[in-house]
Amino acid sequence: MMTMTKIPKKKLFIKTYGCQMNVYDSERMGELLRPLGYDMTERAHEADLVLLNTCHIREKATEKMYSELGKIKSMKSQSGGKMTIAVAGCVAQAEGEEIMRRQPAVDLVLGPQAYHKLPEMIARVSRKVGDRLETDFDTLEKFDALPKKRHVTGPTAFLSIQEGCDKFCTFCVVPYTRGAEISRPVDDIVFEARNLVHQGVREITLLGQNVNAYHGKAPAMAAATGAGEEWGLARLVRHLARIEGLDRLRFITSHPRDMQEDLITAHGDTPALMPFFHLPVQSGSDKILAAMNRGHTREDYFRIMQKMRTCRPDIALASDFIVGFPGERERDFQETMDLVDTVKFAVGYSFKYSIRPGTPAANMFGQVDEAVKHERLLRLQALLKDQQEAFNKACIGRTLPVLVTGKGKLAGQLHGRSPYLQAVHFDAPDHLMGRLLNVEITSATLSSLSAQLLYDEAIA
Ligand code: 5AD
Ligand code: SF4
Repeated sequence: MMTMTKIPKKKLFIKTYGCQMNVYDSERMGELLRPLGYDMTERAHEADLVLLNTCHIREKATEKMYSELGKIKSMKSQSGGKMTIAVAGCVAQAEGEEIMRRQPAVDLVLGPQAYHKLPEMIARVSRKVGDRLETDFDTLEKFDALPKKRHVTGPTAFLSIQEGCDKFCTFCVVPYTRGAEISRPVDDIVFEARNLVHQGVREITLLGQNVNAYHGKAPAMAAATGAGEEWGLARLVRHLARIEGLDRLRFITSHPRDMQEDLITAHGDTPALMPFFHLPVQSGSDKILAAMNRGHTREDYFRIMQKMRTCRPDIALASDFIVGFPGERERDFQETMDLVDTVKFAVGYSFKYSIRPGTPAANMFGQVDEAVKHERLLRLQALLKDQQEAFNKACIGRTLPVLVTGKGKLAGQLHGRSPYLQAVHFDAPDHLMGRLLNVEITSATLSSLSAQLLYDEAIA
């Protein structure tokens, strides 16, 4: 008779810092550990394995991780040392040795392209043999080693299609933490997308550090018929849009240098592609853009955004900005303000320049005073806030399709996402969770919209 070995149940706590790519990676690490008996917990103190998935993009993000590690170390002592502490993500990649030195309670460290080795490393820790630091850079090997099937709940999901960056903006750590640009093959992406849809996902956000640089291996069928060896993002999007049950597609984050015409036109002719476009510009000054090694001018940026609006007039535009980059004078900053004024964004993310050791800008002359950075950030944020509020208020009275993603804050309320990625809440019964519904927007604030459900116009 065959005897089944029962896998003992264990608890896993994951804390994620930084971008959506890290959110995706955390989900995949959770999926990887499920067959080993790990169930998720929201409470770090009761976990057998605590995993911090870290961000290195700005100094503050890194410091947050060290302070969290201090707290987790005391939990580990209270557990009698039974807890395992793992640090993953971009800080792990950039300063793995340093983490182990600064916080000896950490059991293992693994970079963003090596996390498929997590089960093997946990085994090494328990046997007390072998390396506790893995920072290899084999992105495709990672995807091959991850479980083919996803495990998700809810109607929205992330799907990583491209990783890494070869652009080397002078302020940025990503080329060092995430490695060179790599695109996953189309067939793999389609398989993952279908699997997500099969589990009830209706909106997929394609992820990549330079997502519009995507150039993945064409499906075997297409290559055989001479339809090209590699596909770009627009072709991939059009292909995915044909998956039945997949109502919405999004992608983040793009770079102005990789903006292809067909990706712009896809926004006009592919209904599943949502009218939201995030294109970081960082600065409105040509002098600063050159010092940042962005490889485009403010005019290039205007041209792209203008074309995008021509193809899809209602599109919501979003961007990232850095203030106080070395050498930024008041007049350069004014050019950023002017760019914002001209384009009119639905959302803007703005940051004070943060020195990242090892990047070229860290050693540039003309570092800007902290107080000046702070004051510029406030002015830029005030302008972006006004634009965001104006964009939201312009939606009042419109009927929008909303994908219901969860319960609202108040009893009897649900909340969801508009095509423009706005949070929308409205009174509705729980059984409409996960549905795509038409609502009429009744009021708007900076951060969300209130709406009324249009029962007879439910579209799915
Ligand atoms: N300092 C401040 N902001 C930065 N970003 C990237 N590197 C830095 C840095 N050194 C911002 C950019 C990027 C976003 C993800 O983070 O705006 O688009
Ligand atoms: Fe942070 Fe950038 Fe790494 Fe994302 S890719 S986790 S934002 S450093």
